[in-house]
Amino acid sequence: MGEPDFPTPPPVIKAAAAALRAGHTHYADQKGLPELRAALAARLPGCPGRTWTTDDILVTHGATAALAAVALAMIGPGDRVVIPEPAYSLYADLVVLAGGTVDFVPLAPDLHWDLDALAEALPGAAMMIFSNPSNPTGIVHCEQELKALGDLLDGSGILVVSDEAYHRLVYPGHVMTSALEVESLRDRTVYVQTFSKTYAMTGWRVGYLTGPREVVDAAAHVHRTHNGSLNTAVQHAALAALELPDGIVDAMVERYRQRRELSADFAGE
Ligand SMILES: Cc1ncc(COP(=O)(O)O)c(C=O)c1O
Repeated sequence: MGEPDFPTPPPVIKAAAAALRAGHTHYADQKGLPELRAALAARLPGCPGRTWTTDDILVTHGATAALAAVALAMIGPGDRVVIPEPAYSLYADLVVLAGGTVDFVPLAPDLHWDLDALAEALPGAAMMIFSNPSNPTGIVHCEQELKALGDLLDGSGILVVSDEAYHRLVYPGHVMTSALEVESLRDRTVYVQTFSKTYAMTGWRVGYLTGPREVVDAAAHVHRTHNGSLNTAVQHAALAALELPDGIVDAMVERYRQRRELSADFAGE
């Protein structure tokens, strides 16, 4: 289920309660509280030559609604979407819902992308969707792999959707590189993120996306039509989550690491 078994950190709960008591009980800005969007823009993965502003961010009902908004905004009948498989099942469901066609491309035996197979599948596609780190494989697609994908896409108009929900759950020996940090991917990437996993906030339903401005605006249109604005007090709680000391998230990640090693030992790896 991708469900953290830790409670949401107390400062986040306190911030939500304080926001409710302070009267933050009305509609919020349709794209998300400006102060939350500004804080998120300031924390996006860095890339030389690119700065992000409040208007680049759309706050969504979890990553789920971010993915849905992008799919419904950008895919239509006749559009083919490449999905390395196995993949998080929501992607294919959304493509079908939007009227597109799913083109599953099996992973290589080491569970990384099969770049030759992608080179065959990508021409003529409208979009490619993946998660990194990957659900369900746990693979971290490294910088070199992302750059190779960027090279494959060079000259095409294919939109990349990079769902980085598990970006903080990366263990020793692996380095997380965001698609936003790879120059050849940055301008064609819709970056999808969520508070669910990093802050043990699955039930709060806060996610966000950024990407090319026209895609963000189109996704915002779909999101406000389907969902309306996001719970205002929850957005104040999300701001508090961003202010948590790194150590709080690190401690959860450390426990996951210990369990991971224990299960790997049982599996004889
Ligand atoms: C890869 C991936 N993306 C997105 C989601 C959904 O996240 P959210 O709770 O923000 O909707 C999940 C949930 O399991 C997931 O595994």
